[in-house]
Amino acid sequence: MRGLVIRLYLCVAVTFLIPLSKPCYAEPATTDMSESIAFGKDVYNLKGCIGCHKIAGMGGDLGPDLTNQGNIISHDAEWHKRHFTDPPSVVPGSTMPRIELTENELSALTAFMLSLRSEELPKDVEGAIKMAHEKLDEARKGIDEIKKSGFNVDHLEVKYVQGWTHLETINNMIYTHNLAGIYKETEEAGATAKEILQDVLSYNKELEHRVIQAVVLIILIVIMVVLLFIKLLRV
Ligand code: HEC
Repeated sequence: MRGLVIRLYLCVAVTFLIPLSKPCYAEPATTDMSESIAFGKDVYNLKGCIGCHKIAGMGGDLGPDLTNQGNIISHDAEWHKRHFTDPPSVVPGSTMPRIELTENELSALTAFMLSLRSEELPKDVEGAIKMAHEKLDEARKGIDEIKKSGFNVDHLEVKYVQGWTHLETINNMIYTHNLAGIYKETEEAGATAKEILQDVLSYNKELEHRVIQAVVLIILIVIMVVLLFIKLLRV
């Protein structure tokens, strides 16, 4: 009899809890962009992002200001999705909490982040920044490979940091709406990125040469040993 009463209580409790666990907003079925952005804004408010982030002066200080988030070229849709799903995987040591989101919420929140743009950048500048980022990414991979082979590539690391500093400067200019020097910084970032890539490539060539030299040397030694052996046998 007591077991039945307890089961009845459990049933009632579960019936009341089910509606509470559902989101209290309707998820839009369409993929219309402005609707997605509006839904993303709802998700932003409901998930408590505002506690740590500011948009246009409203919100907390624990995380970066998101007012011009959409202007940060390196933070594209892919970046945001990875960042929301697992922040430390894109920002090593990140203290931003992982936030449970449905696939729909993830896309909408990303669309909302990308819509936070205060300035449209001239297309050529945007293209140049993107290219500099891609080149730097490639250079990073190259530097890591060379390091694995035991080469000392400190000067490449220094150049790499310079390249990133230029790109950060550009991001800051966009944040502060100071677009005056942006062409100069973009050119320098692009040039530094190209230089590093060139260096990485010549290092790779040098490595290949060393491998070939080593192989030839080993073959020569083997031949000499064999010849010596044959001579010894004849004696
Ligand atoms: C407990 C505080 C906290 C909460 C809540 C939080 N964040 Fe963050 N967020 C951070 C911190 C700290 C960083 C900096 C580290 C990083 O980039 O991961 C950050 C970084 C970010 C960045 C990258 C900003 C940049 O310019 O580098 C975005 C975008 C972002 N958060 C969006 C959100 C959204 C959207 C939510 C709500 C779903 C949210 N955050 C909730 C603390 C928080």
